[in-house]
Amino acid sequence: MKLDMEKYKKIRQAQANGARTIDELKEMTDIVIENDEERKEVEKVLQNACKCKNVSVEEVAQAVKNGADTVEKVMEATGAGSGCGRCKAGVIPSIIENKK
Ligand code: FES
Repeated sequence: MKLDMEKYKKIRQAQANGARTIDELKEMTDIVIENDEERKEVEKVLQNACKCKNVSVEEVAQAVKNGADTVEKVMEATGAGSGCGRCKAGVIPSIIENKK
């Protein structure tokens, strides 16, 4: 099952605002997760920072811990952000800011 676009956008928006877990996502949005299958899909999106380059939140957070304190440095360290560029304006700055 694929997440519908509306839910996907809500997840990415909440992620850009710092949501990293389903509980945080639920606090920040009105999202309704229908079943376990959908929960797994939501978790996958939450764990991913850059869809185009398949870079995880964990990998970006590790790069930030290792000193990448700008989007450019994160891109250099992980390869994230060199596709559509959407993550450069949302998820990546949020990980830098929150250090997670
Ligand atoms: S999602 Fe990162 S470049 Fe497209």
